[in-house]
Amino acid sequence: PPGSCQAEDGELTIGGCRVTELADRFGTPAVVVDENALRRQARAYTQALARYWPNSQAVFASKSFPCTAVVRVMVEEGLGVDVAGGGELVTALAAGADPAKIVVHGNAKTDEELAMAVKAGAGTIVVDNFDDIDRLERIVTTGHQRVLLRVIPEVDADTHEAMVTGRRDSKFGLAIPQAVEAVARLRTSSRLRLEGLHVHVGSQLLATEPFRRSVEAVGGIAELGEHAVYDLGGGLGVRYTYEDRPPTIDAYVRTLTDAAREHLPAGARLILEPGRSLVAGAAATLYRVVTVKPGPRTLVAVDGGMADNLEPMLYGQRFEATLASRIGGGEPCDLVGRHCESGDTLIRDVPLRDPRVGDVVAVPVTGAYCYSLSNNYNGARRPPVVFCRDGEARAVVRRESYEDLLRRDVPPAGNGGSAR
Ligand code: LLP
Repeated sequence: PPGSCQAEDGELTIGGCRVTELADRFGTPAVVVDENALRRQARAYTQALARYWPNSQAVFASKSFPCTAVVRVMVEEGLGVDVAGGGELVTALAAGADPAKIVVHGNAKTDEELAMAVKAGAGTIVVDNFDDIDRLERIVTTGHQRVLLRVIPEVDADTHEAMVTGRRDSKFGLAIPQAVEAVARLRTSSRLRLEGLHVHVGSQLLATEPFRRSVEAVGGIAELGEHAVYDLGGGLGVRYTYEDRPPTIDAYVRTLTDAAREHLPAGARLILEPGRSLVAGAAATLYRVVTVKPGPRTLVAVDGGMADNLEPMLYGQRFEATLASRIGGGEPCDLVGRHCESGDTLIRDVPLRDPRVGDVVAVPVTGAYCYSLSNNYNGARRPPVVFCRDGEARAVVRRESYEDLLRRDVPPAGNGGSAR
């Protein structure tokens, strides 16, 4: 299958660990991660950038898999961290990120979050709107804060509607005329130092052309000098299904840097902020079959679903799946979740070989935006994250407990303060 799971002697493995053993030991649903695969992806970025544009920095879009262990791996590999909000900032700092390499994002950053970022010494804050400028000018009272300005490149991209961010009507960044105005304003600011521009066209893009055009667009907006910074965002697509053919990281970086040579100053510093392409393929989600219902198409219901993976429901994302002990195709089934929603179908029409109650099912390529969007619907406890490497497995996030679910509920007055 796509991603990091492998077939060894008819048994599915990840990071050298047998998937059925992982399910027994850590329970299901569980997110299992091939740690070496995370590192390989990170190195593919650092090596391609070193080759094609050494004056550059890759930063991990932590929204794609926000937990300290994953961020720590990226930090160890030399990446900076892109944070969208106070929670991701706290996670990045807990993971040991160098504040100078933190890039702060958000289209509605609050005073509190901006103050946290400034206090933490975040190297770069991406200004999204004029109110960001007003707020930062109030908050930064000593020294300078380095900022980038996010511009809307007016580039369309062929991906899901909800993942297109570069169009004229995008809620992220400023349209070109306003961006030009914001540049003028930032140039006169005594506290904010405009270093360059940011652009991001969308996510899960399987073609390189929109990226090339975004560089062209951003190059024409303002004269920012020979050493300006250009943060070109993330967005490289990954292989979810057998049919997907995304560009390689090397080809993607080459496209961007070729375009940069044509449209940006030779002394420019480039930042890339990949998320999905770093983490998606490294992880798989393990479930156990709870019931098999015959019908026009066999329904295979598992012990997870839209609480641990919202991608099919939100974006129509297609995944593959296999049984851990009977790998590969069989009769087409619908793999459905356990939640009280008809929309809770993980994969329609997926071939599974003779599925039975108790079987372990693996859905590969669930490293990006699955754990991030996991939730407690129907009282689901969010799954553990398990790192697997060279045959050794360790939990890096434990499963949520029932107590965790009750922890924030405030007990009624008058019962001695105990809810349990
Ligand atoms: N930089 C910015 C400013 C972003 O907004 C994003 C993703 C990235 C970088 C990383 O993009 P990536 O390399 O992961 O494509 N929740 C959606 C995806 C949303 C992407 C949000 N922004 C999903 O589940 O598919």
